Amino acid sequence: MSQNVPYSKLEKLPPPIEKVETIRILKQENLATAALGELKGIAKLIPNQKMLINAIVIQESKDSSEIENIITSQDELYKALSTQQTHYDSQTKEVIGYRRALNLGYKLIKENGFLSVNNIITIQKELISNNAGIRTTPGTVLKNDQTGEVVYTPPQDKDEIDMLLSNFINAYNNDKPEISPLSNLAVLHYQFESIHPFYDGNGRTGRILNVLYLILNNLIDIPILYLSSYIIRNKSEYYRLLNHTNKTQDWEDWIIYMLKAVEETSLKTIKKITAIKNLLDKTITYVKEQKPKIYKKEFIELLFEQPYSKIDYVVQKLQVERKTASRYLKGLEELKILESQKIGRETIYINVALMKLLKD
Ligand SMILES: Nc1ncnc2c1ncn2[C@@H]1O[C@H](COP(=O)(O)OP(=O)(O)O)[C@@H](O)[C@H]1O
Ligand SMILES: [Mg+2]
Repeated sequence: MSQNVPYSKLEKLPPPIEKVETIRILKQENLATAALGELKGIAKLIPNQKMLINAIVIQESKDSSEIENIITSQDELYKALSTQQTHYDSQTKEVIGYRRALNLGYKLIKENGFLSVNNIITIQKELISNNAGIRTTPGTVLKNDQTGEVVYTPPQDKDEIDMLLSNFINAYNNDKPEISPLSNLAVLHYQFESIHPFYDGNGRTGRILNVLYLILNNLIDIPILYLSSYIIRNKSEYYRLLNHTNKTQDWEDWIIYMLKAVEETSLKTIKKITAIKNLLDKTITYVKEQKPKIYKKEFIELLFEQPYSKIDYVVQKLQVERKTASRYLKGLEELKILESQKIGRETIYINVALMKLLKD
C-alpha cells in the first residue's frame, strides 16, 4: 500500500543562488539563450505574423492539454474552430478553452505589462470554465498516473497558498532577477506547480504562464515558443524531476531539463516556421503561374492563417461576393492545394500541405 506524502513546507522564492547557478546550468543556459535568440530573429522576418501565431497556438493548445490526457485530433479541433457546429466532444471543448485562456493571457500582459494573481485566476477560469478559483478546501494531492500513489502534497492552507502566490508573482514580475531569465523560467514553473493553487488546471495554467513570461521579458516578441511537445516526448522525466526537486531542493536537473526544452523547441520551431514560409512562397508562385486570374496575395495568406477556410472568411478578408469567393476556393481545389469537406451544411477547404506540415 502506498503511504501518503505529508506536506512539507514549500520554500519561498528565490532559491539560494548557488543551487540555481551551477556551471552545468550556465552552459545549458547559453545554448538555450542562443537558440531562442535565433528564433526571435527569424520570426521577425515572417511578413504575416498572425499566420504563425494562429497555427502554433492551436498546436500548443492541443499539446498542453494532451499532457493532462485531454486528447483531440487536429482535424476535430480545426473543424470545431472553423464551422458553426456546436456539438463537439468535451475534450475538444477543453482544448478550445485552452486556446481562449492563452489568448486572454496574452492580451492581459500586452495591456498591463505585467501579470497579477487576479490575472492568473482569470486565465484559469477561462480554461476550466468554472468559478472555483484558488483552493480553499484541503484534500488536493498529486498522484502518480499509473500507480495512483500520492507523490506530492501541495500546501493545503488558504493563507499559505495566498502568501506563496504573492511571493511567486513578485518573482515572476521582477525584471531584474539575480538569476538569469531562462533559469528563472524553470524555477517559476516548478514553484507554480508546487503551490498548485487550483483544484484543477494547474499544469495547463502554468504552461500558459511560461510563454507569457518569455514575452514579458522580451525573450520572444510573439507567442510562438511552447514547451509542451518537448514535455510530451519527455513526460516521465517532467514528473520525475518536479518530484525530485520537491524532495531534495536540488534544482540542477530540473533547470537543465527546462533549458534543454527551450533549446530543442526553439530549434524545432525555427525549422517549422521556415518550412511554413517556404510553403507559402511556393504556393504563391504556383498559383500565380497556374491561375493568374484568381491570384491574390491576401487570399493565399488567408489560407495560411486559416488552414481550414471557407467562403465566409474569403468574403470578409477580400471584400468580395460569395460567388467570387467560392470561385477562388474551387480554383485552388482544382490545383489540389485545397481539399473540400462538407460538414453539416457548410463546406470547408483544407490547406492540405500546410496541415501535413503542422502535424509533423
Ligand atoms: N511532484 C510534482 N510537483 C509539482 N508539480 C507537479 C508534480 N507532479 C506533477 N505536477 C504538475 O501538476 C500538473 C497537473 O496538475 P492539474 O491541476 O491536474 O493540471 P491540469 O488540469 O492542467 O491537468 C502537471 O502538469 C505538472 O505540471
Ligand atoms: Mg487535471
